[in-house]
Amino acid sequence: MSVLFERIGLLYTGDPEREEIEDAALVVEDGRVVWTGAAGEDPGADERVDVGGRCVIPGFVDSHAHLVFAGDRTAEFAARMSGEPYTAGGIRTTVAATRAATGDLLAGRTAALVAEMLAQGTTTVEIKSGYGLTVEDERRSLEIAGRFTTETTYLGAHVVPPGTSADDYVRTVTGEMLTACAPYARWVDVFCERGAFDADQSREILFAGVKAGLMPRIHANQLGNGPGARIAAEVGAASADHCTHLTDDDVLALSSAGVVATLLPGAEFSTRSPYPDARRLLDAGVTVALATDCNPGSSFTSSMPFCLALAVREMRMTPLEAIRAATHGGARALRRDDVGTLRVGARGDLVVLDAPSYVHLAYRPGVPLVDQVWREGRRLV
Ligand code: NIG
Ligand code: FE
Repeated sequence: MSVLFERIGLLYTGDPEREEIEDAALVVEDGRVVWTGAAGEDPGADERVDVGGRCVIPGFVDSHAHLVFAGDRTAEFAARMSGEPYTAGGIRTTVAATRAATGDLLAGRTAALVAEMLAQGTTTVEIKSGYGLTVEDERRSLEIAGRFTTETTYLGAHVVPPGTSADDYVRTVTGEMLTACAPYARWVDVFCERGAFDADQSREILFAGVKAGLMPRIHANQLGNGPGARIAAEVGAASADHCTHLTDDDVLALSSAGVVATLLPGAEFSTRSPYPDARRLLDAGVTVALATDCNPGSSFTSSMPFCLALAVREMRMTPLEAIRAATHGGARALRRDDVGTLRVGARGDLVVLDAPSYVHLAYRPGVPLVDQVWREGRRLV
């Protein structure tokens, strides 16, 4: 079964060889891109979709999201907007609500957020645990996450839960909890930050995860300077996420080790904090990804277009760099080469924008420009 997308005004392929094609066409067959090129040269297909001169982009790859949780933190957000600071402590509010929720409720809420993301053009999402913080609650969160994505991340090391000492908790995270969670996870993550886990604990947790067959990624340098970015380089993490407060040495460590910097501007927006400097990272040769960080505390948005608009306006990224970061960058952060581009062989995951160019995602912020979403050659929105 093949589908020809014709009369594409602008095709953003994400393939560095031929990143943008005007007046383009594209063919997806059996879920994969099999042909891209100029209109009029297309090889034909079983079915035709007339894009009407609009822009086609790869589906967004949201490589950082915390979707398995119950409750919300509306009051905390409102207090913050009247001057209270953001702290990691709020995580415990969500942990209590998540533990008290049934599995069905958690799965239903996760499904609703994944659907919200899909409607906004996200075709690949990473989902973390981290609001259970007991062996069974973390296992349950990851089992639920795995119903929606293969990109599941064990974040037992989100914060130390109340009533436990840090040492005891790290022992559990690297022992019994890891054993229970590893079969459900592809990645291991740790919140390396003052008030969460320090350098030694973070290393220990990531190395234990690696030993159990997981790949490392890390929450680094979100709330202040710290060792997170350098640990990412040291352990060979796919990505260091947040990267809001970086020294020159941190930037050098990321670029030398080829660690992707995943920037999460929804978090700075919702915590009223200064944005990370994407320009500085890009100029140093670091691959940048953009993701939502969707979670009830620091960034309750499911919208990649919103994050992309913030990145262009607030983080010194060009519209081209932002679309790259939201598609190919996310794929790199997840070590995936089958998504995030529309080159031949990639999955037929694509978005038809109700706009002539991807530039409109930043130029027309807040406007719902996602018209159609296709995954593996099937229309879902
Ligand atoms: O990525 N930084 C740690 N975790 C989340 C926030 C979680 C919360 O506040 O509930 C983040 O921003
Ligand atoms: Fe996060």
